[in-house]
Amino acid sequence: MLCIAAAPLDFKTYILENAADCPAAPYAFGTTVGNFNNYDDVLAFGQDKDIITIEIEHVNTDALRALEQMGKVVHPAPAALDIIKDKGLQKTFYAENGIVTMPFELFEDADALRAAIREGRWELPLVQKTRTAGYDGKGVAVLRTPEDLTTKMLEGPCVAEQLADIDVEIAVIAAQNPNGDVTVFPAVEMAFHPEANLVEMLVCPARISPMVVAQAEALAEEVIRALNVCGLLAVEMFLTKDGRLVVNEVAPRPHNSGHHTIDTAVTSQFQQHLRAICNLPLGDTAQVRPAVMLNVLGEPGHKGPVLYEGADELMAISGVYLHLYGKATTSPFRKMGHLTVAANTVEAAVGLGHKVKGVLRVVSAE
Ligand SMILES: Nc1ncnc2c1ncn2[C@@H]1O[C@H](COP(=O)(O)OP(=O)(O)O)[C@@H](O)[C@H]1O
Ligand SMILES: [Mg+2]
Repeated sequence: MLCIAAAPLDFKTYILENAADCPAAPYAFGTTVGNFNNYDDVLAFGQDKDIITIEIEHVNTDALRALEQMGKVVHPAPAALDIIKDKGLQKTFYAENGIVTMPFELFEDADALRAAIREGRWELPLVQKTRTAGYDGKGVAVLRTPEDLTTKMLEGPCVAEQLADIDVEIAVIAAQNPNGDVTVFPAVEMAFHPEANLVEMLVCPARISPMVVAQAEALAEEVIRALNVCGLLAVEMFLTKDGRLVVNEVAPRPHNSGHHTIDTAVTSQFQQHLRAICNLPLGDTAQVRPAVMLNVLGEPGHKGPVLYEGADELMAISGVYLHLYGKATTSPFRKMGHLTVAANTVEAAVGLGHKVKGVLRVVSAE
């Protein structure tokens, strides 16, 4: 989607991915097959490029730092990526910079956390998160009962966090260019799929009071400036039942909660990222029409070459924008694409979103 946004600006994008037939390849000017976790691959890839950016934070940052030292423009800064990709460092950064987050403590491993619970230093319920390599809820365990301590705990260095009493989860995508200009997209509301731990429906604008919207936008700006990120920064927040806004985590890249901007905002998050990293004027972030975004996920029980059922029925519905990512195979809950569903009011968009959900089925051809 970043490559697609680059085309009308006449930017030539090149990608580093682990397969020549990856979803972005048809839209990129060139594809290099390699491992973005590998120092040599990232260094070799960046050597003849002008501006280097990332779409996933788990990239080899030593290589990015070396490219920066060679005089390449690298956004977001490797130093910020190092903080963000370790949830322990990220939480510590918030604590040190006065950014409100749930109280937490770092632990060596699950045993150390178990000991802390046994000794009464921590109480259930709590949330355990692996410090690195978690995504889409995979590195997060909510521990409620003593049994969970044997069945649910995650291995490796971790963060323990107090369980927030969440009213709604929202995300605000901020963007900053090297001039220090900052914009924010309207706050979006995230509704989660109960089983898959993935965002199921995203609602823009979020159905929260204008006062909370203003607070959330100010908080997102504070975080992007503190982390000194150029490019996009999606700031995930909890609005607690007692009305407090708490930063959960950030993502320094285009984010699931901004996909609707392609079809329903003046500037898409992808174009905004390109404007930011190229130090261009940032675009208007206004939402033109209320919208919801739904992930297109692989059906449970289906694994193999992908087949889409119900596309005709789906595309007959006015206000629906279909985005398929071109992945060759499906598996249960795999993100295969997304839908933006737009309407004249946010209530109508949510209603239509629920109607549209399940019309398209991602199954296996076998
Ligand atoms: N401290 C917390 N209290 C309550 N729920 C939480 C807490 N931390 C995370 N969650 C829930 O788990 C989800 C995933 O956690 P998150 O830290 O965002 O991990 P991921 O990297 O998988 O997105 C959150 O969106 C939220 O629903
Ligand atoms: Mg998250």
